[in-house]
Amino acid sequence: MVPTAQQFDVVVLGGGPGGYAAALYASSAGLSVAVVEKDKVGGTCLHRGCIPAKEFLETASVYRTVAGAKEFGVQAEQPTLDFSVSQARKQKVVDQLHKGLQTLMKRRRITTFIGTGRLGPDRTVRVSDGTELQGNHVVLATGSVPRTIPGFEVDGRFVMSSDELLAREELPASAVVIGGGAIGCEFASMMSDLGVQVTLLEALPKLLPGCDKDVVNVVARSFAKRGIDVRTGVTVNGHKPSAEATTVLFGEGEQVTADAVVVSVGRRPLSDGLLDEGTAVEVDERGFVGIDERCRTAEPGVYAVGDLVATPQLAHVGFAEAIVAVKDMLGESPVPVDHASVPWCIYCHPEVAFAGLSEEAATEAGYDVVVKVDPYGGNGRALIVGEAAGMVKVIAEKDSDGKAGRILGVHMVGPWVTEQLGQAYLAVNWEATPEEVAQYIQPHPTLSEVFGETVLAMTGRSLHA
Ligand code: NAI
Repeated sequence: MVPTAQQFDVVVLGGGPGGYAAALYASSAGLSVAVVEKDKVGGTCLHRGCIPAKEFLETASVYRTVAGAKEFGVQAEQPTLDFSVSQARKQKVVDQLHKGLQTLMKRRRITTFIGTGRLGPDRTVRVSDGTELQGNHVVLATGSVPRTIPGFEVDGRFVMSSDELLAREELPASAVVIGGGAIGCEFASMMSDLGVQVTLLEALPKLLPGCDKDVVNVVARSFAKRGIDVRTGVTVNGHKPSAEATTVLFGEGEQVTADAVVVSVGRRPLSDGLLDEGTAVEVDERGFVGIDERCRTAEPGVYAVGDLVATPQLAHVGFAEAIVAVKDMLGESPVPVDHASVPWCIYCHPEVAFAGLSEEAATEAGYDVVVKVDPYGGNGRALIVGEAAGMVKVIAEKDSDGKAGRILGVHMVGPWVTEQLGQAYLAVNWEATPEEVAQYIQPHPTLSEVFGETVLAMTGRSLHA
């Protein structure tokens, strides 16, 4: 017990999506809240992750649109890129959101302490400037940092993580991206569209591990067509820098020389130095804080959410976990987050979005399945916007009569699928059947008709699919 500690209903460590969501939701329930943040509220997502990355992917989209304008009869010169302007625009978007978040937190009377927080016994938190806080409840939400691999430490010259790439004033002429997960594919796609010669090296046999194989094949075909050199099933064996560039050694004696190397091999939880002696909070060998289904750690009154815990590292999962944690503090009985069915959105070109089981995962889990795939190629709006590559794939459990029963997963790849996932996510989580979903109308002409046609076709009759 620290007598001088300032008292709050909730003390939150970390002001990223998990932490600020906990703070905002708790304050909306009338609780007094303190947030301890060592840098800026908004965290990785706002300053070094989701928002800046998607902003640059939008720059790539504008570039593609201008380059393809002729097809629409619109005469425009071949586009050129001033990436410093793109960087400034990205920063403007980030700064505006940052300011908005700060204002919102102030309006909600959330007290922000700038410094590094450390959890001690009895839910006390010591901030690096000496301030002591005590919460009736504490939420740990210190997030994650990019993982590195031996021989590819960030060096201020050639090797970068997402943090450095997103802060650059110009793009390299060529780049090797190590890791073909969400971040690797988004960066490879963005850089390639903006004229960078990209080689993508992935250790596993396919890009985007965890995504449905048919979806991955559409992305891989598009990448190949656009000149991204994708090499899967390869390990990297170090790199040899010279004055101007560096040569990455990989596979069985292969090599590629590039101006930059972007390492995107996952993120690790930031639990280093988070805990003082005397708390029962458990941290596993990978650094993740252990929680139960209501985000409670082993220390009474202490919760953990977001990238710090071993659940999907997605900002919106952090939001959902924060709400569960606060509801639990309030003595309500929150429905736990179903981590197997969260929405996933990957903003490479073409976009990927899914919720629930892939065909492989459903089969592996022992389900007898009915699968229907419908391409965007026959959809009016897709042809209008000139983005016909892609498809919607619905996986349903096969009922005893052979018909499609509960929808287990919906996997999409193609134009604006990240904006179309919502109703598919609801269908999966509502455990709806194609018959139930198909009775609802999709507006025409829209891209979302492809999902509607797919579920309609699964009822045994169809219009176009
Ligand atoms: P990731 O875990 O999704 O992908 C890392 C990839 O690197 C994997 O495919 C892995 O097989 C590969 N890899 C690992 N070691 C390697 C090596 N030595 N050589 C070659 N390949 C290697 O991690 P990523 O893409 O860095 O993203 C981090 C986290 O952030 C993930 O949980 C991801 O889901 C999340 N995220 C999600 C986004 C989205 O949903 N749009 C965007 C950005 C990040």
